[in-house]
Amino acid sequence: MKFKKKILGIGAGYVGAPSMVMIASKCPDYKVTVVDINPERIAAWNSDRLPVYEPGLDAIVRKTRGRNLFFSTDVEAQIQENDIIFVCVNTPTKTFGAGAGMAADLQYWEKTARQILENSKTSKIVIEKSTLPIKTAQAMERILSSGKKNVSFDVLSNPEFMAEGTAVNDLENPDRVLIGSRETKSGLAARAALVEIYTRWLPREKIITSNIWSAELSKLVANAFLAQRVSSINSISALCEKADADISEVAHAVGTDSRIGAKFLKAGIGFGGSCFKKDILNLVYLCRFYGLPEVAAYWESVVRINEYQQDRFIANILRSMFNTLAGKKICVLGFAFKADTGDTRESPAIHITRKLLAEHAEVVISDPQALANAAADLAHEKGKISYVEDPYRAAAGCHALAVMTDWEAYRKLDYRKIYKSMVKPAFLFDGRNIVDHRKCFEIGFNVFPIGKPALTRF
Ligand code: NAD
Ligand code: UGA
Repeated sequence: MKFKKKILGIGAGYVGAPSMVMIASKCPDYKVTVVDINPERIAAWNSDRLPVYEPGLDAIVRKTRGRNLFFSTDVEAQIQENDIIFVCVNTPTKTFGAGAGMAADLQYWEKTARQILENSKTSKIVIEKSTLPIKTAQAMERILSSGKKNVSFDVLSNPEFMAEGTAVNDLENPDRVLIGSRETKSGLAARAALVEIYTRWLPREKIITSNIWSAELSKLVANAFLAQRVSSINSISALCEKADADISEVAHAVGTDSRIGAKFLKAGIGFGGSCFKKDILNLVYLCRFYGLPEVAAYWESVVRINEYQQDRFIANILRSMFNTLAGKKICVLGFAFKADTGDTRESPAIHITRKLLAEHAEVVISDPQALANAAADLAHEKGKISYVEDPYRAAAGCHALAVMTDWEAYRKLDYRKIYKSMVKPAFLFDGRNIVDHRKCFEIGFNVFPIGKPALTRF
């Protein structure tokens, strides 16, 4: 079959693969290829057991794979063959050298830029889909323009706003798609080529076009604003616990103001995931770099409140359980950073579990999707840890339950049955406020929600 366009995604991770899968699904006359340097990841994308758990994605992959969607490890050949390239490689926080712990590590991204340059025999549109510091496109352009004179590159910024667990819906019905480009003749033509892809399934009004630096910065700012809401509500949850107010009632009362809005006001043990912390720290680093220490400090506090919230949760467990956890068994219900994903990157559960182990507690971890990742995260921890998928078996014989992930299934557990199997007095620390607290108290638990008065018998 002769395809109308040939599109390449470099990086078959949580973002690269689902976003390319969606293009393949919506544009059957385009050939879409996804490459990665990790052969196991590519093998998994070509198998029946996909490497990421994302509701609804399997069905679309089954429909498109082998038709107009292909997964490959041959990065160089695919660069040669494709005219439109989405760069979706990872951009983690730097762990070494200048900017360690703050700045984005651009080594994977830069390797890709060089590979594109080396393997291009025809002109290409190169699209930044990874989240990158402002002005990265300029560096990309400099690398790409250092080669042959007869091949030209247009660099666009098209940041991705999907969230894990809802990726399919977010990609199919996004609030908006953002495309930043140079405002030159060829930059505008490249922008139009990308707009054409998205208008295959989205109305034109949903596609925002802007200058390239605004697009790069908007992605960091969108994540910073979302994380800021979580830290704002979490900071108020601490006050609620002191002053007998209820954070759910406060969030509802505040969020019904249409200027504020109801979303992202769920108090809990803090935000996790691979991006919020990384992107805010990147923003903080950029502000310092541009000589704006007050702005940097403002955004850094969002991360500090997130750490404070996790530490508060641990301190509350310790204090409530008579200031000793040594030898006690704690069941961690949920290890993924949010529901409907197996991803545990930056999950608050990692930090909290480490602290429980440091108190010499025995930890039993339960999660419907994230146990393999949890075991990898905790591989080097000392102490007693076990992994039990079934929550009833996990809780049996424990002194406390600590709910860390908002899995829907955890709302509906038979807490009476669980209570019976636990050591008394039994404690329930609801780090996501998803359990029926009053009912669990009546069953016999001592219940400690976030931002609400505790229900205890002591
Ligand atoms: P990821 O680690 O899951 O995937 C990145 C992939 O890129 C890996 O499989 C890696 O092997 C591959 N890779 C690295 N260098 C490569 C190279 N030179 N050639 C080919 N493949 C290479 O990361 P992710 O979660 O998909 O995130 C990717 C980017 O998207 C990041 O910048 C992130 O901030 C951004 N983002 C992520 C999300 C999300 O929900 N995870 C949402 C929006 C934006
Ligand atoms: C987030 C953004 O929502 C996406 O728009 C963005 O594309 C993505 O980051 C990214 O750049 O990687 P994601 O991290 O997948 O998506 O998930 P979210 O739903 O945003 O949740 C992030 C964290 O905040 C989770 O740990 C979640 O439990 C927590 N959260 C969220 C709360 O504690 N309270 C809330 O009200 C909302």
